[in-house]
Amino acid sequence: MRLSVITSNPGKAREYAELFEGTGIEAVHAPNPYDEVQSDRLEEVVRKGMGELRGRGLSDFIIDDSGLFIDSLKGFPGVWSAYAQKTIGNAGILRLMEGAGGRSARFRCCIGCSIGGEDLIVSGECEGVILESERGAGGFGFDPVFSSDGERSFSEIPQGEKNRVSHRAVAMAALMAELRSRSLI
Ligand code: IMP
Repeated sequence: MRLSVITSNPGKAREYAELFEGTGIEAVHAPNPYDEVQSDRLEEVVRKGMGELRGRGLSDFIIDDSGLFIDSLKGFPGVWSAYAQKTIGNAGILRLMEGAGGRSARFRCCIGCSIGGEDLIVSGECEGVILESERGAGGFGFDPVFSSDGERSFSEIPQGEKNRVSHRAVAMAALMAELRSRSLI
């Protein structure tokens, strides 16, 4: 079975190709854009995105809306993560952290999967901290400033390790369990 991974982010597409390895599902990157509505909930963004894509007659796809939620910034950048990444970037996030109360943060990922005529929405979280500086060359987005073990950034750990602990990995595990329980795979 094939699922299109509809995203304009090649980093996410790479992760899904690896996360689906050995599952019997082939994840194929489909960079066609769709309108991401602004909402204060990732699930809402995904639900509306799925509706738009289904309205265009598409099926057998996944979409992913993710964000970085920093406790001492009251959850910022959260659902505005893409905008924050494009505008202030990781350097701007680090500047905002100067004098902030603490460094705890979490990544959240919401996956929408349209498969065999059914629509599923699952989520995953990964707890961690914002590092003092950008570290490492791998990954994408906020990976250089986020650490789940408090030492190494997501850009410094091997991709296989990120794919075992990340918000996306947790959401993927929930998706696979849901697909199995509905006998869709
Ligand atoms: P979106 O889900 O594509 O809207 O992503 C929101 C922002 O969070 C983008 O700037 C992404 O690059 C970033 N982002 C999403 N997932 C990750 C991740 O796993 N690591 C680092 N940054 C991420």
